[in-house]
Amino acid sequence: MGPGPITVDPRVLRAMSAQLVGQYDPAMTGYMGETQELYREVFRTENEATVLIDGTSRAGIEAALVSLLSPGDRVLVPVFGRFGHLLREIAERCGAEVHAIEVPWGQVFSLEAIEEAVREVRPQLVALVQGDTSTTMNQPLEGVGAVCHRHGALLYVDCTASLGGNPFEMDAWEVDAATAGLQKCLGGPSGSAPLSLSPRAVEVVRSRSSVEAGLRADPDAGGTPPAERIRSNYFDLGMVLDYWGPQRLNHHTEATTMLYGARECARLLLEEGLQAAVARHRLHGDAMLAGVRGLGLRVFGDVAHKMHNVVAVEIPDGVDGEAVRAELLHDYGIEIGTSFGPLAGRVWRIGTMGYNARKDAVLVTLASLEQVLRRHGAPVEAGAGSAAAQQVYA
Ligand SMILES: Cc1ncc(COP(=O)(O)O)c(C=O)c1O
Repeated sequence: MGPGPITVDPRVLRAMSAQLVGQYDPAMTGYMGETQELYREVFRTENEATVLIDGTSRAGIEAALVSLLSPGDRVLVPVFGRFGHLLREIAERCGAEVHAIEVPWGQVFSLEAIEEAVREVRPQLVALVQGDTSTTMNQPLEGVGAVCHRHGALLYVDCTASLGGNPFEMDAWEVDAATAGLQKCLGGPSGSAPLSLSPRAVEVVRSRSSVEAGLRADPDAGGTPPAERIRSNYFDLGMVLDYWGPQRLNHHTEATTMLYGARECARLLLEEGLQAAVARHRLHGDAMLAGVRGLGLRVFGDVAHKMHNVVAVEIPDGVDGEAVRAELLHDYGIEIGTSFGPLAGRVWRIGTMGYNARKDAVLVTLASLEQVLRRHGAPVEAGAGSAAAQQVYA
């Protein structure tokens, strides 16, 4: 019941135990096409360029940023938690001129603040996290894409923690590049990063991409590499798109088992229905929120902007947060998280996401937490956490 990775849906594990097929087996290329179609629906986009990056979520981030950014490009990163700092760092490593704006952890940016910074910095790219897992905050994205486009910038969004459990509208919100992972609301393991690029973003990638020597029958067909070639081979999205596209130009060896898993995650999500999945995360998130408050715990941050799928709870004075986490794990088999940086040891993060966004998981966690808190001398009223959660379910 932490902030991810979470308990994997058994149906995803089962899909991942299927035998491998060759990269160009028609069954495999068929699965690739199906997976692209499924993730277009998950991201709510028509983008042809919708693929999986083999690697964890930060592989998706690196692929997007290294492919979109040339050294010297100006990038604006609104930072409201640890993962905003990660975007900043990766953009710096790409050689970009990075401008960060910050709000205190526990808050999000207003559209006006983002627009003002875009006007000032005049970036080629705005890189933004939707749900920053470190603080649990969910940055509103409506209007941000339009602001970026009005000022000639592209918008990249990391929706790793939020996708599937909170609304995300790639096309309607004019997002140019989005990346995610499976290990949060999608109910899968880490190790595959769904990614989607708008036609505008593809244009930038294509202007910087090249084809590896030795792939084409005519050695001159690739032409000369562009002046500002993408600095990574593995994360060159031009080559990744050629691999997933009809040319099927060889690049990496697709991580077949992860593809089975990613495909099943999206299939299950869409079978449930995106709106229904978001509503389920909202319901169980609300129940957990009410439950921890029922236990007399204080919730961290601007709760109105919290992601549905995770809550940060302030560790009460005098209670050893790590001892509570260890006891929950050893005595009850329940894992919850703490956080990073300024919030390390100050909050517990309790997730209700993916396969764990379930009533029984919420109620058992609250009942167990109550027992452990009492043993640690916290003044908790017997049954108050579960009762508050049950009221949400009533
Ligand atoms: C918002 C966000 N972005 C990126 C990452 C990095 O993901 P990974 O550990 O899969 O590389 C995480 C992981 O928790 C995350 O929550």
